Amino acid sequence: MRIGMLTGGGDCPGLNAVLRAVTKSLIRQCGAEVVGIEDGFLGLMEQRVRPLGWDDVSGIVAVGGTVLGTHNRASPLDWQGRDRRDEVVRYARETLGLEALVVIGGDGTMTIGHALAERGLPMVGVPKTIDNDIAGCDRSFGFDTAVATVTEALERIQTTAQSHGRVMIVETMGRNAGWIALEAGIAGAADVILLPEIDYDVEAVADVCRTRAARRRHTVVCIAEGAKPRGGAQTVRERIAGSPEPVRLGGVGHALQAQLQPLIASEVRTTVLGHVQRGGPPTAFDRVLATQYGNTAAQLVIEGQFDRMVTLQHGRLTSVPVASVAGRSRQVPADHPLLRCARQIGVALGEPPAGA
Ligand code: F6P
Repeated sequence: MRIGMLTGGGDCPGLNAVLRAVTKSLIRQCGAEVVGIEDGFLGLMEQRVRPLGWDDVSGIVAVGGTVLGTHNRASPLDWQGRDRRDEVVRYARETLGLEALVVIGGDGTMTIGHALAERGLPMVGVPKTIDNDIAGCDRSFGFDTAVATVTEALERIQTTAQSHGRVMIVETMGRNAGWIALEAGIAGAADVILLPEIDYDVEAVADVCRTRAARRRHTVVCIAEGAKPRGGAQTVRERIAGSPEPVRLGGVGHALQAQLQPLIASEVRTTVLGHVQRGGPPTAFDRVLATQYGNTAAQLVIEGQFDRMVTLQHGRLTSVPVASVAGRSRQVPADHPLLRCARQIGVALGEPPAGA
């Protein structure tokens, strides 16, 4: 049996742990040959592959990034003005002799994998993203590591904010979901947490800062990149035509600073955490989760259960049809217990006072 494997979309801590677990499970259980495709779907289009043997994946469980490389623009659905689906399926099936492809990525990668499966290349998906926003998946690996990184950053921001009596804004990643900002904001004791799911009221945020300043307290605001003011729009950093993920967000922290500063006397400073949230070694939790995802993906391949994505639901490893998750994402629901908890412990979510 020959199985191909690639990592698509942005990188994420734990990818190497998946590559290792898939490869070792397949070699150990059925003596499969595993072919690594370089730089995601770009490698499939440019025919850049290499064998992945036992020794190639040994010693990488704790290494950040992906040893295969990845790409978050290249899509065979539309590459350089052409639909390359049939071409890459023929290359994978006939030239490489692949029976199936394991794709590790986010919703964009799942959408492409599913489209190739429809043209005759069986696939199994493994959900990856620090954003934790994949539909049908309670927890993606990489998220725990990102939350740990943001939490540490908030702790460091707390002491400098306190020393200067400042308002410090910390912007996290997360696309249109506020999972990173919410969990890290709670863990890092942010006073205000602003999420894409709840449009913020600038006056309400200013009120928290003024009230705290009157008690000689500093304020830490943790804002997700997808957050936006009431009646306003998201802050877009870049638009990439043809990319599976064409809109890249970023910069809302500075936008909030500009809105807030005229309303309060305290000095405001902004830190955009950026890609530090995606780099470095995965936490022990993410290593275990990624290993279990990889091992489960290998079982699906062995059992011939294709066009499915491995997932975690209610604490159980299982799988769902890729078609049911491709192109969809998962936001923080309005009734999420952590939102209620935040409000009840006095964390502001940028909501105007009741009745306003
Ligand atoms: O999806 C992961 C993610 O890190 C998002 O949180 C962020 O918006 C985006 O990728 C950044 O993309 P890029 O690496 O292209 O700047």
